[in-house]
Amino acid sequence: MKFFVDTAETDQIAELNDLGMVDGVTTNPSLILKSGRDILEVTREIAEMVSGPVSAEVVALTADEMIAEGRKLAQIAGNIAVKVPLTWDGLKACKVLTGEGYMVNVTLCFSANQALLAAKAGATFISPFIGRLDDINLDGMDLIEDIRTIYDNYGFETQILAASIRTVNHACQAALIGADVMTAPPAVIKKMAEHPLTNAGLESFMADWAKTGQKIL
Ligand code: G3P
Repeated sequence: MKFFVDTAETDQIAELNDLGMVDGVTTNPSLILKSGRDILEVTREIAEMVSGPVSAEVVALTADEMIAEGRKLAQIAGNIAVKVPLTWDGLKACKVLTGEGYMVNVTLCFSANQALLAAKAGATFISPFIGRLDDINLDGMDLIEDIRTIYDNYGFETQILAASIRTVNHACQAALIGADVMTAPPAVIKKMAEHPLTNAGLESFMADWAKTGQKIL
């Protein structure tokens, strides 16, 4: 499973990148707002830090304008994936931009039918939003499972990018189902390392080690 980091905070990306945990980065207008940075400037900086795909989202609502914005964002670096919303216009933009050789991430996906359309339009990535489905009392994992089944039924190459990951359980379940990629906030990725039994075990090892009176260094 590839790990994308869902943030525009460059210091947090750098920390995970140094550990080899970053296969790509995803941003969106809300994350750009949170960073307080200029979209072109911060996207360029991120694209220089990581070698994998860096998603940068268009903000236009018509296909022609999305295409123009997408072309501009794609000029930032060779590893930009243009992010377009899953609307009819977004699908048109996806088709054109993938035809021009750009990676396209179709975002705000909340149904298997939407994911099917994105694959037909040639999307590189489809981003089903797990947490936002959970927010309205639906199970976001059911959607990941349905998309996996449909894409495998027909051999679609569009990668399932599990997004809106809020918990470590989301990450684990998406991996078990076979999502190709997950994008998660840095805090969720770091929390995946935690287990109370690890902490308890370490504490007892440290106590016993102290009793030996030995040193390694
Ligand atoms: O990648 C999309 C993701 O950022 C949305 O997450 O937590 O705002 O639903 P969230």
